Amino acid sequence: MEKIKKIAVMTSGGDAPGMNAAIRSVARTCAYYKIPCLGIYRGYEGLIEGDFIELTARSVHHIINKGGTILKSARSKGFMTKEGRKQAYENLKAQGIDAMVVIGGDGSFTGAVVFNEEFNFPILGIPGTIDNDIFGTSHTLGYDTALNTAVEAIDKIRDTASSHNRLFFVEVMGRDAGFIALNAGVGAGAEEILIPEENLGLERMLESLKKSKRAGKSSSIVVVAEGDKSGKNVYELAKYVEENMPEYDVRVSILGHMQRGGSPSCFDRVLASRLGVKAVELLLEGKTNLMVGLKDNEVIATSMEEAIKGGHSINMELLRVSDIMTT
Ligand code: F6P
Repeated sequence: MEKIKKIAVMTSGGDAPGMNAAIRSVARTCAYYKIPCLGIYRGYEGLIEGDFIELTARSVHHIINKGGTILKSARSKGFMTKEGRKQAYENLKAQGIDAMVVIGGDGSFTGAVVFNEEFNFPILGIPGTIDNDIFGTSHTLGYDTALNTAVEAIDKIRDTASSHNRLFFVEVMGRDAGFIALNAGVGAGAEEILIPEENLGLERMLESLKKSKRAGKSSSIVVVAEGDKSGKNVYELAKYVEENMPEYDVRVSILGHMQRGGSPSCFDRVLASRLGVKAVELLLEGKTNLMVGLKDNEVIATSMEEAIKGGHSINMELLRVSDIMTT
């Protein structure tokens, strides 16, 4: 395998706090090893359009603390086509780029695996999504920040819920995964937590709310993951409870995209810095098709295929803790 002479980096899929810190880390590690680094705008979309920018150690200054991504992000339809990927490859070659770091989620890694198969192009992945739903890392970039954002918001909702003796349904992000809901729910002391991985059932939810009412609780918070499988959306859930527990004044709050923004937590900044260094160093060692991640506070590498297919498992112990805490 030929020596890597130029590396490009992109952010792809839903943005996440810490992506900028990872871009900075990739650019600075390249500078450290005296390898030119290019940024690709708008993920695979910008790659197809040939939208590059030179990244130097200095040009990535003052971004470690910024939310969003300076390279912008997109979910690309063009990259799903063979012609799109061919154009992307030609653009990389025209720029003399011989390896790429993709910061994103499972959709972005799926694209990377296909691209590598077709063109044998070296790619390293850095997991960046607030959902934390990627195998091969205990934490994805942005997850810790999003958790703290959600907890802060739920704390505020609790203030008003308690003043008015109300029951609030708070929807948090997580299309397919309940990590944010479960952890923010336990962290904010929610009464019930509804996640896609475990369908509590409407009856049990009602029973639990009735139990807490009997136990003397005057207000409650139910945290619902966006992808919850109860069969009802958060407004329908609220209506259902209102109909069955008329003694409760019910309100709904959807936290939405605010969970994706904001300055990254220290944890996410440190994680981004560590993963960026490792991604570049692995590429320079001739490794490809790997995703870097965190396990037992060590940076490890997992094959990208495994990271996509491995699935994610929720911490059952935490569900149990949540049950006990609502006694
Ligand atoms: O994957 C991250 C995520 O924030 C999910 O939790 C959410 O369902 C989705 O992205 C929203 O995507 P979009 O910003 O395209 O609406």
